[in-house]
Amino acid sequence: MPYTLPSAADLLAWYDRHRRILPWRAGPGQARDPYRIWLSEVMLQQTTVAAVGPRYARFLARFPSVQALAAADWAEVAEEWAGLGYYARARNLHACAKAVAAAGDFPDDTVGLEALPGIGRYTASAVAAIAFDAPVVPVDGNVERVAARLAAIEDPLPGAKPRLTALAAGFMADPAARARPGDFAQALFDLGATICTPRNPACALCPWQDRCTARRAGIAAELPRKSPKAARPLRHGAHFLLTDARGRILLRRRPDNGLLGGMLEVPGTPWRTGPWPEAEALAHAPAEAPWRLLPGLARHGFTHFELEMVLYTAALPGRAVPEGEWQSADAARAALPSVMRRLLDLAAA
Ligand code: ADE
Repeated sequence: MPYTLPSAADLLAWYDRHRRILPWRAGPGQARDPYRIWLSEVMLQQTTVAAVGPRYARFLARFPSVQALAAADWAEVAEEWAGLGYYARARNLHACAKAVAAAGDFPDDTVGLEALPGIGRYTASAVAAIAFDAPVVPVDGNVERVAARLAAIEDPLPGAKPRLTALAAGFMADPAARARPGDFAQALFDLGATICTPRNPACALCPWQDRCTARRAGIAAELPRKSPKAARPLRHGAHFLLTDARGRILLRRRPDNGLLGGMLEVPGTPWRTGPWPEAEALAHAPAEAPWRLLPGLARHGFTHFELEMVLYTAALPGRAVPEGEWQSADAARAALPSVMRRLLDLAAA
């Protein structure tokens, strides 16, 4: 039997009582600023709601409008983005701000939004719905989970995504959802984040509990199912932590293109399938020095491979000045991507 969606009005009534107060959310009746909404959505793709809060406020204090962001130097934007993950995102953020400032304002529909740098289907739908009340349902992990449970869709993700997206889109046939698409989208996010949570869903508090097929079948917590992940191949690297007389460490900037493009790194070998015997590794060292191999390994999981790194340390000998930038340990920790912070952790252990 085909599943009939529950009432949008019931979810909106719940949202009106229980909505989360979030820094990028306009209160009822308050003006909605597409710049703020777009910025929050880009940041939320990098990190959690809790972690975004302070960074979001700081970013807005420095770049209060899309014009201010567009006019900023790239170096300033990169600095403000440090620690927020992929630098390519910040490049796109800056490019998008320039395109929007040149056009005068954000487009108000998904087609126009999706044509901008760095804006994919999800972000375009979220901004169109939340900033402009366009009649669309943005589908993030929360919305997929809610949809999979309502209709007890047991097909695993990612294969089930088109089906879940189509199911969620069906909500816009409900006049109550069409009257408030921005609130409806955020109500789905909040339901997924606070009630219909991945592990122990609080079904007894859910405004849609009577219409949830998975709840009735006792399988809500098991959905959505996920296809087993393909085993990720293992790669190996050797890195070199060089310290100067002032305790600063040597960092280098990675090439603009490719993995971690343009981000800082602790100098090292390429990452390859086989481990690095010492003599071969040392050919990639940034300077001649009495390198010492630390015991242990640093590990990091990328989307497509696992990385194991060994770490050599040395004090800068004499006056030789290798190419790169010297940074204090604290500044390095703030500026380096997580994979590189694991090397600092290994050195501190
Ligand atoms: N996750 C992604 N976008 C969100 C939003 N606007 N509110 C709450 N959680 C979110």
